Amino acid sequence: MAETDAMSVTDAVFARKTIRAFLDTPVSDEDLTNLLEKSARAPSGGNVQPWRIYVVGSDTMPIFLDYMSERDLEEPEYDVYPPKLWDPYRTNRFQLGEEMYELLEIARDDRSGRLARLAENYRFFGAPASIFCFVEKGMGPPQWSDLGMFLQTFMLLAQEAGFDTCPQEAWASYHGAVKEFVGAPEEEMLFCGVAIGHQDPAAPVNSLVSTRMPLAEWATFVEK
Ligand SMILES: Cc1cc2nc3c(=O)[nH]c(=O)nc-3n(C[C@H](O)[C@H](O)[C@H](O)COP(=O)(O)O)c2cc1C
Repeated sequence: MAETDAMSVTDAVFARKTIRAFLDTPVSDEDLTNLLEKSARAPSGGNVQPWRIYVVGSDTMPIFLDYMSERDLEEPEYDVYPPKLWDPYRTNRFQLGEEMYELLEIARDDRSGRLARLAENYRFFGAPASIFCFVEKGMGPPQWSDLGMFLQTFMLLAQEAGFDTCPQEAWASYHGAVKEFVGAPEEEMLFCGVAIGHQDPAAPVNSLVSTRMPLAEWATFVEK
């Protein structure tokens, strides 16, 4: 594994960003095992460890993509966003889309261009490997939050190990197909996929650095 020993947590936090174009350089199962084992050090309320992970590694990926090419979109099992997202969240989401499509040179009214781009999600943006994150249907928001901590731990460790990632809720629109392929039991529910590999440095979309709201808009120092 291409360990970058000097990477601090802060370095990893700033180095991690969502990559939407990957090289086809494979990721070994050994590297994925190592990352997953370390990621399980993520905290979870009561240490319940509710994450359920299915790996589609570099050997299985071509078979998975072939299988997916025959499948149709499905109604997601959960709302990826609340219906009628409100501000400031709505504007944040809109801004990200605009910035991304500008880099991709896809015009706002180019519906088919945008749809084709969306479909790239379902090829993991060319990534050679991925994980799918599931959680049991009986689990509630606290355990979904635990899964989120696992996810970020995984992505930061991947960064440290020299890999790039893309978390993908887009897979919610193929939850049945994914579940069938990976063999997850009925009681488990797909949250997201995470593409993992090496970014294509020549792809303009990878130059996107998403913005963040100023701290004063989301943090309050309580004074009495
Ligand atoms: C749980 C989760 C699901 C996401 N799903 C997608 C997705 O389906 N497709 C995509 O292109 N980006 C997806 N993203 C990436 C977000 O758009 C991205 O994290 C956000 O714009 C902030 O940018 P950054 O990750 O580069 O810092 C997802 C992120 C998270 C955390």
